[in-house]
Amino acid sequence: VVSSLYNRADYAKLPDNEGDKAKQMGKWLLEISWEIANKVTGIYKVIRSKVPITKKEYGNNFICIGPYNDSFVKSEVEICEPRMNVVKAVVNDMKRYGVHVVTGNWLIEGLPQVVLFDTGSAADRLDGWRSDFFEYARIQIPYHDKEANDAVIFGFCVFWFIGIFLKKLKFYKRRYVIAHFHEWLAGVGLIMARLRGYDCALVFTTHGTLLGKCLCGSSTDFYNRLDSFNSDKEAGDRQIYHRYCIERAAASCAHVFTTVSGITGIESEFLLNKKPDLLTPNGLIEQRFAALHEFQNLHAQNKEKLHAFVRGHFYGHYDFDLDKTLYCFITGQYEFFNKGVDMFIESLAKLNDMLKSLGSDMTIIAFLIFPTATNNFNIESLRGQSIAKMLRDTVQNVQSEIGKPLYEVCLKGCVPSADEILHTEDMIELKKCVLASERSSLPSISTHNVVDDSTDPILNSLRRYQLFNNRSDRVKVIFHPEFLRSTNPLLPLDYEEFVRGCHLGVFPSYYEPWGYSPAECTVMGVPVITTNLSGFGCFMEERISDPSSHGIYIVDRHYKTAEESCQQLTKFMFDFSQLTRRQRTMLRNRTVRLSELLDWKTLGIYYYKARQLALQRVHPEMEGEMKLITNPKYNPGKTLQSRRSSSSSSSSSSSTESSSAWSDEDRKMKLKEAERQQEASSTPIQLTDDILLGPYSHNEIISKI
Ligand code: G6P
Ligand code: GLC
Repeated sequence: VVSSLYNRADYAKLPDNEGDKAKQMGKWLLEISWEIANKVTGIYKVIRSKVPITKKEYGNNFICIGPYNDSFVKSEVEICEPRMNVVKAVVNDMKRYGVHVVTGNWLIEGLPQVVLFDTGSAADRLDGWRSDFFEYARIQIPYHDKEANDAVIFGFCVFWFIGIFLKKLKFYKRRYVIAHFHEWLAGVGLIMARLRGYDCALVFTTHGTLLGKCLCGSSTDFYNRLDSFNSDKEAGDRQIYHRYCIERAAASCAHVFTTVSGITGIESEFLLNKKPDLLTPNGLIEQRFAALHEFQNLHAQNKEKLHAFVRGHFYGHYDFDLDKTLYCFITGQYEFFNKGVDMFIESLAKLNDMLKSLGSDMTIIAFLIFPTATNNFNIESLRGQSIAKMLRDTVQNVQSEIGKPLYEVCLKGCVPSADEILHTEDMIELKKCVLASERSSLPSISTHNVVDDSTDPILNSLRRYQLFNNRSDRVKVIFHPEFLRSTNPLLPLDYEEFVRGCHLGVFPSYYEPWGYSPAECTVMGVPVITTNLSGFGCFMEERISDPSSHGIYIVDRHYKTAEESCQQLTKFMFDFSQLTRRQRTMLRNRTVRLSELLDWKTLGIYYYKARQLALQRVHPEMEGEMKLITNPKYNPGKTLQSRRSSSSSSSSSSSTESSSAWSDEDRKMKLKEAERQQEASSTPIQLTDDILLGPYSHNEIISKI
C-alpha cells in the first residue's frame, strides 16, 4: 500500500497509522545532524519542531542520529534500549568495537528515538579515518581544526552505522532507507556512504554556506558580487578550505540537495557550485505558540512586566508616558553585520532625530539582546530595580495604612483633607524614596558590565550615534548582553513572554538563510521588520501580496544601497510609531493569521518531496511513490521551463502549460482573492495548495540576478 500525497491538505491530514505503512513498506528515515539533542544554532529548532510530523509519517522507523553531549543528554534524553531490534543489533555491534553509543528517547514532542555517538570514545580511530577520508574523498583534514576532526569522527560513526544497518536489513523483503543529513558538520557520513555506493537515498540540507557567512561578515556587496567570487581561493584565504570541501562534496554527493530558502539557494549555486533540487523552508509548531483569542491579552500582560523593568531602569529619568511607549527588539547570535545590528542602530538614531524634531510624545524603547562575555549585571541597573521596588513597597504601605481611616471618615459623612490622611511620617518616607531616586548619571545603555566594553561593536555603535538615553531622546536603548530567562533578576521573563510583550521585532539581517526570530514573532502576533536577504523575508514576499499590511515589513537590502535601506528601515519604524493603539491591535490580528503558513503541517510537504525525490532517484521501481514527483505541478525543472515559455508567449491564459505556471499577475490575483476571503471571515488565513506550491520561487529569484 503506497500513499501518494499530492498536496498540502493531504499532508496535513496524514493518518496516524502512516507509520505502520512505512513499516510495512520497509521505509526507514535516518535524520542526521550535529544538533540532534544538542542545541548550537537554529538547526536544532528545525529538527526538533519537525519531529511530530516526521514521526507521523515514519513511526518507529524514524531515527535521529547525533553526537553525544553529556549536558544535553542529561536534560533532554531518556536513555533506553532502541525500540527496533535491528537498531539495537547495529548499536550492539558498534559497542562491541568500543564505540560509546547512547540510545534513548528524545524528550520532546513526538518522542523520537535517538542514537548518539560519543565522538571522544572513537577518537583513537581519527588517524585512520582521516586517511580513509583522504583516500576516498581527497579531502585533507588538518589536525588543528578540532571541529572538523569531530566532523570526521561523527561522520565515520554514522557511515559505519548505516553500513551495518543496511546489511542487517538485507534479511527483510523490502528496504528503502533514506538518510537525511543537515549541514557540513554531518557531511562526512553522507560523502562516504555515496562514495562507497551504499544502497541508501541520501538527502543533504544546508542551512547556509560556510563561505557565505564569512564573506557577508566582511564584504559590503556580497549578493551583487556572488558570481565573481573565486570560492576555492576565498575558502583558502580564510583557512576553511577543508570544511568548504566537505560542504561542497556533501551537496554534490547527495541524491537530493536542498536548502532553506531561495536566497541561500542562489548562494549555494555560486559558492558550492550546486543548485538545490528543492527548497525546504523551515516551519514551526503553530500549536506551540497558538493562543488564539488570548494572544492580545498576553501582549497586555507581558507588556506590564516590561513596564515594571522600564520604571526601574529609567529611575530618576522616568518622565515619559508608558501609555505612549513602544517596545521593539532585535536578537540572535552576536553577528554584528550579518544580523543587521549596524543598520538597526543607525536607523534608531535617525528615528530619534525625526521624533525629536517633530516634537513627538512617543517613546521608543529598543532592546538589543545578544550574548557576549560580561562581568554580571551593572550596579546602576540593579540599583534602579531596587529603588523602584522600594518606592512601590512604601506606597503600598502608605496605601494600606490610610485606606481604613479614610473609609471610616467618609462613612461618617466627612471628606478629609490630604493632611488628615497622610501623616508626616508617611510624607517623610515618600520623600526619602523620591530623593533616593535622583541620579546624576544617565540611565545605562547596557544592563551588564561587558568584558570588552571598549571594543564591543554594539556599545561602540551606540556611542558613535550618541544614543545615551538622554531625557530629550525619544528613542531609548537597552543592550542586554545575555539571552533572557525567567530567573533573571532584572528582566524576569522568558523569551516568549518578552516577545509577546513587545510591539515590534526588528531583524534587518544581511546574512540570514532563514531566520526563526521573525517567524516566531509572526506566530505570536507581533509585527516584524525583516529583509529581502533573509529566507523568511523572501518567503513572505512571495507568499503574501502586501506583507506590510500583515505586519511583515520587508526592507530591501538587495537592490538598494545601504543608505537607502537604512532610510527605509527608519521609515518603517517611524510609520509604526504613528499607528494608533487600535491600528496596532488590528495589525497584530492580521499578523497572527499568517501562522498557518509557517506551520510544519503546511511546510512539511517540502521535506516529504525531498525524500520522495531521493527515493525515486535510488529506487525508480517505486512506482506509486513516484506519483508525487511526476505530477507536473511539483516538478521544479518543468515549472521553470513553462514559466519561461509562458512569459515568451505573452498572455496565453488558456493553455495547460500556463495553468501550471502562473504569471506574477495570476499569482497576485489568487493571493488577493485568498486574502479577501480571509478578511471576510475571522478564521486564520486560508491559502490554497496552489498558492503554497505554486511556481518554484527559487527559479524566480535566480532569474532576477
Ligand atoms: C491588547 C489588549 C488591550 C490593550 C492593547 C494594548 O489588544 O487586549 O487590552 O489595550 O493590547 O496595545 P498596545 O499596542 O498599546 O500595547
Ligand atoms: C542557520 C541560519 C538561520 C536559520 C537556521 C535554521 O542557523 O543562519 O538563518 O534560521 O540555520 O535553518
